[in-house]
Amino acid sequence: MGNKIAIITGASGGIGREFVKKLLEEEVDEIWAVARNREKLVALQKEMGRKIVVIPKDLTKSKELYSIGEMLYKEKPVVAYLVNNAGIARMGSYKEFTVEEIENTININCSAMAVLCTMCIPYMQKGSRILNISSASAFQPQPYLNLYGATKVFERNYSRALNAELKGSGITVTAVCPGWVDTELLMRKVNGKTVKFPGMVSAARVVETALKDAKRGKDMSVCSLYVKYEHVIAKLFPQRAVMRVWIKGIRKYGFQ
Ligand SMILES: NC(=O)c1ccc[n+]([C@@H]2O[C@H](COP(=O)([O-])OP(=O)(O)OC[C@H]3O[C@@H](n4cnc5c(N)ncnc54)[C@H](OP(=O)(O)O)[C@@H]3O)[C@@H](O)[C@H]2O)c1
Repeated sequence: MGNKIAIITGASGGIGREFVKKLLEEEVDEIWAVARNREKLVALQKEMGRKIVVIPKDLTKSKELYSIGEMLYKEKPVVAYLVNNAGIARMGSYKEFTVEEIENTININCSAMAVLCTMCIPYMQKGSRILNISSASAFQPQPYLNLYGATKVFERNYSRALNAELKGSGITVTAVCPGWVDTELLMRKVNGKTVKFPGMVSAARVVETALKDAKRGKDMSVCSLYVKYEHVIAKLFPQRAVMRVWIKGIRKYGFQ
């Protein structure tokens, strides 16, 4: 049997970096840390040790994504954890998005996540965990965060359905749905106005709860009371009404 590994995409950034820290406490021989920026990954390895395997890949590019499959085929490890965390987000009107930006967002937030699940499952065994980082943006349509929110719906539904398909295998899939998390992903200023992020939590808190929930076999992880409340509201009230409240909040930042 090969090495026992964890694969974490977006390992150099906010939530991914916290996953690296936490999974180093688990019984894994290697953590395959994936992101585009090689220097940041090398710095991560220097800080966190030789268990970190530096894998610089742009997951929006099919060839680079498939090369992870080739690494798996060559090394035949046991994948104990797959954390599909890499993602991109931008607030803005649909008019502001280029075709390239739309495609890249869908490629990384949706396609890469689903492809990596399919590539890794043959190397998993009972007790292996997949954690896909979706978002509370998946609870309702979000004008001006439309594209991002829609990709997160894909991620959430894909994960929960895959978890059901894998029932009986001992492999679990958890859709992690945080609200605002204090990382570099967030646009702090929009149209010259400072954006407020109600209920914002730390990446460490999201990761701790996500790993606990994954170990319990939960198909969804929601870490704060604030987001649990948002989830209930989105289920109880018509989506049009929930959207109206969202639009009222986001229009303050000058979106047309
Ligand atoms: N922050 C929030 O409020 C929040 C809330 C809910 C859900 N989430 C979700 O949590 C996940 C992580 O977000 P974060 O807040 O930790 O973001 P972040 O701090 O911006 O980190 C993003 C990570 O993804 C990597 N990445 C970006 N594009 C990539 C690409 N094309 N190929 C490979 N790696 C790429 C980045 O490294 P490189 O730039 O070097 O590639 C970085 O390591 C995302 O899926 C996001 O949607 C975040």
